[in-house]
Amino acid sequence: MIPGDFKVKKPTKKQLILLAVSGIVGLFGTAAAITVGVFAFTAWWGLPLDIYGFNEGPEQPIAFPHTKHVQELGLDCTFCHRTVAKEASASIPSVEFCVSCHKIIGDNSEEIAKLRSYSSNEKPIDWQRVHRLPDHVHFVHEAHIRFFSGTKNVVSKIDRDKVSSQITLEDARKIYPNTKVGEIIDVKESQVCMTCHGDVGSMAKVKQIRPLKMADCVNCHRDNSAPTDCITCHY
Ligand code: HEC
Ligand code: HEC
Ligand code: HEC
Ligand code: HEC
Ligand code: HEC
Repeated sequence: MIPGDFKVKKPTKKQLILLAVSGIVGLFGTAAAITVGVFAFTAWWGLPLDIYGFNEGPEQPIAFPHTKHVQELGLDCTFCHRTVAKEASASIPSVEFCVSCHKIIGDNSEEIAKLRSYSSNEKPIDWQRVHRLPDHVHFVHEAHIRFFSGTKNVVSKIDRDKVSSQITLEDARKIYPNTKVGEIIDVKESQVCMTCHGDVGSMAKVKQIRPLKMADCVNCHRDNSAPTDCITCHY
């Protein structure tokens, strides 16, 4: 072939525009696919990435501030979540329980006005669940609160014969971040919550901070010589 004999056809304007548009669409498409992929993967793995606010707790009918009640007023978790140390579920207090204080506290607050109207209409508050295990899973708060509260020796590995007086460094650090192996710590019932729910007292809006997926539950059970057979957690 003689050089120069071969000519590329000049693209028309229409073709150029089409090319540019499909390039841009392709770019956005890829970016969107990656974002969705990452989100799906991390959500499946446990918790959606803490970006774009996906990991925020749900909007509640009344903006209930744990910060005010726990940090400022110093109320114990068990003061409101009354059944947590005795039963499977922790329970959320009734409207009447809230109103026992808010009959007189919070006259200038819109949120308290909402609370009072639930009370005068005798309507329960439809709190949105933050944590929810599938129906085939069985979870019992009581066993966990009983097991992890009390005086505990911080160890790197639990000794089968001394489970009730020991706590792993990993769990202990969720409660006392600077604790070390060999220390003796005292864990109140309301402090046990931190091992799974984090520092709720400092959350303006409760969100889930631990995967609480099967592997997470089973790993902790294994580390603490707790039962790992299927029927422990499945009906
Ligand atoms: C004054 C009462 C009160 C106190 C004290 C309190 N809570 Fe709550 N808690 C609530 C109410 C009401 C809700 C439901 C609204 C919400 O999710 O914010 C709730 C929700 C929660 C949830 C989310 C439940 C779900 O749907 O999965 C967790 C976890 C929780 N509380 C843990 C704690 C812990 C841990 C403490 C102590 C550090 C505590 N609470 C202290 C009233 C209280
Ligand atoms: C032991 C008494 C007590 C109980 C029980 C109690 N609260 Fe409160 N709550 C307070 C106090 C005190 C404040 C702080 C008021 C302030 O800062 O002016 C407060 C603040 C609030 C606020 C913020 C008001 C604002 O706009 O700043 C909301 C919302 C609220 N409470 C809702 C509830 C709900 C819902 C319950 C029941 C689950 C509840 N409280 C139970 C004492 C209580
Ligand atoms: C071993 C992990 C673990 C610990 C410790 C724990 N929770 Fe939970 N919590 C969960 C799981 C898992 C769920 C979801 C249960 C379900 O969907 O059946 C939950 C749900 C809840 C709920 C909403 C549903 C209900 O049971 O009423 C509240 C409120 C709650 N926890 C409060 C607490 C408080 C308060 C403490 C500490 C006294 C605590 N939790 C300690 C794992 C834990
Ligand atoms: C922080 C560690 C830890 C995590 C996380 C944990 N568990 Fe446990 N769980 C324990 C220990 C320790 C016991 C044993 C308590 C005892 O010996 O009484 C236990 C006991 C239980 C029991 C037996 C209650 C009974 O009938 O005696 C059930 C059911 C259970 N866990 C379910 C779960 C599920 C479901 C999850 C995950 C959503 C979970 N646990 C997460 C430590 C944990
Ligand atoms: C310590 C508690 C615990 C034990 C023990 C446990 N599971 Fe699970 N399992 C869970 C929890 C929590 C879930 C739901 C969250 C999830 O999908 O990981 C689950 C989910 C499942 C699912 C549904 C998975 C899905 O994708 O929906 C199957 C199947 C299952 N478990 C089988 C088993 C078998 C078989 C055993 C015994 C070898 C077992 N589990 C032991 C806690 C447990």
